[in-house]
Amino acid sequence: MLRRAFGSFATGVTVVTTGGPVPHAMTANSFTSVSLEPPLVLICVDRGALMHEHLTSNGYFGVSVLASHQEGVAMHFANRWRTLGAAQFDEVDWTPGRTTGVPMLDGTLASFECELWRTYDGGDHTIFIGRIVSLHQQTDRDALLVFKGRFREISPDWTEVSA
Ligand SMILES: Cc1cc2nc3c(=O)[nH]c(=O)nc-3n(C[C@H](O)[C@H](O)[C@H](O)COP(=O)(O)O)c2cc1C
Repeated sequence: MLRRAFGSFATGVTVVTTGGPVPHAMTANSFTSVSLEPPLVLICVDRGALMHEHLTSNGYFGVSVLASHQEGVAMHFANRWRTLGAAQFDEVDWTPGRTTGVPMLDGTLASFECELWRTYDGGDHTIFIGRIVSLHQQTDRDALLVFKGRFREISPDWTEVSA
C-alpha cells in the first residue's frame, strides 16, 4: 500500500556507483538535488543493500542519470542475483570518473561525481548526501522515468504544461 503510494511520484532513474578494489553499482530512483551552494545531492539506500556497505566504506560515489534507452541497465543493476564485483560492469559501457576514478556509465543524460558529505538516519534506509566534485551533461537525450512501478520515457520535445 505504502510502496504503491510512493510509486505515484514519477521520478527519473539513476545508477549509483562506487569504485575502489571492489567496485559496485545499484539502481536508485531516490536521487534528489539538495543544494546549489555547496552543490549537494542525496540518495536513500536500503540498509540491507550491498551498496550501503560500499557507500559507507568509500569516500566517493557516482550518480549516472539514465537515458530512455537504458531500461536494461536499470534492470541489471537492480537484479540482486547479478554477478558482483568488477564483472557486474562487463555488460555496460563506462568510463572512470575524471576526479574520483569511480565508474561512470556512458550514454547517460547526466552524471555526477560526489564525495560523501554527510549521512543521516532514514529509518530502514540511510540518506547519503554527496558534494558534487564534477559533473557531465548531455542535453539531447530522452529520459528514463519510473512511475507506478513501470519504466516510462519522456522526450525534451514533449509539450510543456502551460500556466
Ligand atoms: C527503478 C528502481 C529504483 C530503485 N531505487 C532504489 C533506491 O533509491 N534505494 C535503494 O536502496 N534501492 C533501490 N532500488 C532497489 C535496488 O536497486 C536493488 O535492491 C539492488 O538489487 C540493490 O543492489 P545491492 O544490494 O547489490 O547493492 C531500486 C530498484 C529499481 C528497479
